[in-house]
Amino acid sequence: MRSHYCGQVDRSQLGEEIAVAGWVHRRRDHGGVIFVDLRDREGLLQVVFDPGDPDTFAEAERLRGEYVLAVRGRVRERPEGTVNPNMATGEVELEATELTVLNRANTPPFHHDEPAGEDLRLRYRYLDLRREDMQRNLRLRHAVARSIRGFLDDHGFVELETPVLTKTTPEGARDYLVPSRTHTGRFFALPQSPQLLKQLLMMSGFDRYYQIVKCFRDEDLRADRQPEFTQVDIETSFMDEEAIMAVMEDLVRHAFRTVLDVELPDPLPRLTYREATERYGTDAPDLRNPLVLTEVADLMRGVEFRVFAGPAADAGSRVAVLRLPGGADLSRGAIDGYTDLAARHGARGLAWIKVIDRAAGQLQSPILKFLPDEVVAAVLDRAGAESGDIVFFGAGKTQVVNDTLSAVRRQLGRDRGLIRDGWAPLWVVDFPLFQQDGEGGWTPSHHPFTAPLADDPVDLSADPGNTLSRAYDMVLNGTEIGGGSIRIHTPVMQSAVFELLGIGEAEANEKFGFLLQAMEYGCPPHGGIAFGLDRLVMLMAGADSIREVIAFPKTQTASDPLTGAPSPAGAAQLREVGIRLRRKG
Ligand code: AMO
Ligand code: AMP
Repeated sequence: MRSHYCGQVDRSQLGEEIAVAGWVHRRRDHGGVIFVDLRDREGLLQVVFDPGDPDTFAEAERLRGEYVLAVRGRVRERPEGTVNPNMATGEVELEATELTVLNRANTPPFHHDEPAGEDLRLRYRYLDLRREDMQRNLRLRHAVARSIRGFLDDHGFVELETPVLTKTTPEGARDYLVPSRTHTGRFFALPQSPQLLKQLLMMSGFDRYYQIVKCFRDEDLRADRQPEFTQVDIETSFMDEEAIMAVMEDLVRHAFRTVLDVELPDPLPRLTYREATERYGTDAPDLRNPLVLTEVADLMRGVEFRVFAGPAADAGSRVAVLRLPGGADLSRGAIDGYTDLAARHGARGLAWIKVIDRAAGQLQSPILKFLPDEVVAAVLDRAGAESGDIVFFGAGKTQVVNDTLSAVRRQLGRDRGLIRDGWAPLWVVDFPLFQQDGEGGWTPSHHPFTAPLADDPVDLSADPGNTLSRAYDMVLNGTEIGGGSIRIHTPVMQSAVFELLGIGEAEANEKFGFLLQAMEYGCPPHGGIAFGLDRLVMLMAGADSIREVIAFPKTQTASDPLTGAPSPAGAAQLREVGIRLRRKG
């Protein structure tokens, strides 16, 4: 049926008889001649039907967009003046001698070249995926997966599968549950990650494991979050964090080199969690953005302005400034916009000082009257503010200030065109082991199997808030693309961590007894990482959502307009699994 892909026909086939097959991308009638751009996965080829062959011509007149054709013909040069340098096949055309309509098509609800709403795109995803950029994204995804596989295979990693019907693996989200028919009233949980199982594989002696694997998390969705997503999941034995990070950097450098021909820095830069949050207000900073935060709480202690003095005196709060070079030209309206943005992140305001002329002491600000001149001067000195700059203030609970100023930093970076091109990967290390859960207790900042830096469980309980973990995240252009850690490998430490997390012995045994028990049978020190494949490919593709690199993604409300999933289950099916609905969905 086919001798060549449409998109690959060029001068080297001039004069040859070839056969192509594909979809009608566009049809144009030109005074007795019909042109069809025929499309397949490699691109477009211009096919010409002229009236010399009346049967074929009559057939060609009935062609519509997206009809599926097989065409035979001779490759010839395009007439002078009709060469299209923007097309790979732009110097040639196919003079059709034989046309077979393999299938007709309804008029598509949208044309590939035109933007369409996301709901429509997902409902007709199979049409949407015909777009050139979707084809490119998904093939890039394949190239990335293949490159990663190649590297891991070459480095002694064994690809092993773990079950999808399993027990809860806590990664901070809700589980997707699957009712069991054979054990009425019981449920499988879909894995939020293969975390526990890959740890067991280390206890089994596989030493180096990987899996490109689906994970399931019922959580609030965003541009870089899907309920079902893919991890490149990795675990190793007898390697410390330095050794693991070195191999994982090599893996990511390899993928960028082979897929994009891009050389990432070697080694990757590192920031501690503390440095990252102090300087950028986030543990996933975009280092392409030159703006930084400066801590000024110590300068605000004892000032009369309570908005600043209060947080300055409180251990869980901070006062920070964000300097925008050349920002004194911002209008009131623009500043109000950033103040609204800050408010959406929980801030009560976004105080600012415009430096009109530093040497002449000429400043403009709604808060000058509340602050002594020498404090203002010290703040501006520390932030490095010069004439023509503006500095924004964030004061309050550390988390709120960080959320606020990092959002303002991101937005200013975009609005002012400050984000440089290229790639800014880094590691973030020295995470706290625990975070406050807001109810007087602790939650793991990674997952409860992450090892603390300290070896002695007693040190943990002494000061949980200041205990560091052996976790590491890889961040690229402001997105967390991977995270991992050295794991706890003794039952004593694991129990101590569970206890601190408020997971009592009974609950620990019920949920994770199998893990605690396995640790009693010769558990090697081990650690690993998981990369978010969707996020990595999104960044490499230059896309702004992981939905652009997933063939069949879910909507923001975790549904699939194409298949209509999730859909109601029949009464008989529900009865079989012992479920009665409280109210009809
Ligand atoms: P973590 O929860 O950090 O670690 O997940 C690893 C990486 O997976 C990606 N990711 C997601 N991508 C799309 N949609 C989501 N909902 C989503 N959630 C996470 C991110 C993230 O960095 N078991 C540990 C790994 C380990 O310790 O080895 C884990 O799952 O890019
Ligand atoms: P007020 O005294 O509340 O009118 O605030 C004076 C200035 O401080 C205004 O510009 C507010 O936007 C700003 N402001 C108020 N609360 C905060 C805060 N928590 N952080 C930063 N700026 C604030």
